[in-house]
Amino acid sequence: MENITSTEKKKRIFSAIQPSGQMTLGNYLGAIRSWVELQDKFECVYATANLHAITVRQDPKKLKENTTNLFALLIAAGIDPAKCIFFHQSQVHAHAELSWVLSTYTQFGELSRMTQFKDKSAKHSDNINAGLFTYPALMAADILLYQADMVPVGADQKQHLELTRNVAERFNGIYGNTFVVPEPYITKTAAKVMSLLDPSKKMSKSDPNTKSFILMVDEPATIMKKFRSAVTDSEASVRYAEGKDGINNLMEIYSACTGLTFEQIEDEFRGKGYGDFKNAVGEAVVAQLEPIQIRYKELLKDKKYLEELARQGAESASKLAERTIDKVYRKVGLVR
Ligand code: TYM
Repeated sequence: MENITSTEKKKRIFSAIQPSGQMTLGNYLGAIRSWVELQDKFECVYATANLHAITVRQDPKKLKENTTNLFALLIAAGIDPAKCIFFHQSQVHAHAELSWVLSTYTQFGELSRMTQFKDKSAKHSDNINAGLFTYPALMAADILLYQADMVPVGADQKQHLELTRNVAERFNGIYGNTFVVPEPYITKTAAKVMSLLDPSKKMSKSDPNTKSFILMVDEPATIMKKFRSAVTDSEASVRYAEGKDGINNLMEIYSACTGLTFEQIEDEFRGKGYGDFKNAVGEAVVAQLEPIQIRYKELLKDKKYLEELARQGAESASKLAERTIDKVYRKVGLVR
């Protein structure tokens, strides 16, 4: 994580999240919380990544609904459209335009190495479309359009960020300084929240067993139940150590929610069983998510208001994006 001081010149931040169903505790702790923190110190641009979402087949009605719901959920979590630019990716056509240009500066070999592509093509073997493959070029476009200095993401997006940096450097190398080369911004704790049932795997809403993940909209009782059934080990000692993946994951989550260090957590639960610890983790997560859930339900009552906020966000985003697209088209020799 970067060392931030409030006296630093305002840097630009960009990040996005796919509206592909419900958000998990991983999305929240790994990314959304950083988005909220950063908006007080930096110039932030955030989007729902609905163009990315269609790389996996979507039901049109559901996609639209999920997109609006995600917009509301992020506002409920603290994203403030008065402090940042917040919109839907599909509202700013420059994303698709720059993506096309950048795809011609992205190599087949580079894209073939992306672990997300490998995972998703294994999961959706009946629909390994070209968009799923060139997905990272669109992600690079999202980031480079806004000349972002930093990109808050969970650890699983590091490889895409690395590719974005390579594409930016390659383009700058050919045409002279065009893009800011962005840095990833990854939280110290909970950068990769793991499955509650198989802590060697990332927590993901696409897991067929719903007990493996916590959704941001899960009822408090459900959250408590899921933590109680989390996989641990037979040692019955709350400490962060190799080979204790289940407990390590719960400690990461507890630390991220309470601000306590691992040593403080070990002190708190010395001599206590895993049952007590799991309850405490559940309660700490409920304390984070419950106020968000209440605001979320309230916001969803006024869809027109949400639409208007996104429209205004898209207008501001378009202005920034046009500057970059103009520059890129000019450099490449494309008639506008
Ligand atoms: P997505 O939509 O899968 O996830 C959104 C964000 O949540 C983080 N995340 C996690 N963090 C910790 N633990 C987990 N278990 C976990 N699961 C998800 C992700 O790292 C991400 O930050 N390609 C991106 C979306 C995107 C984007 C962008 C991101 C599109 N354009 C431009 C940054 C910049 C994605 O699929 O994230």
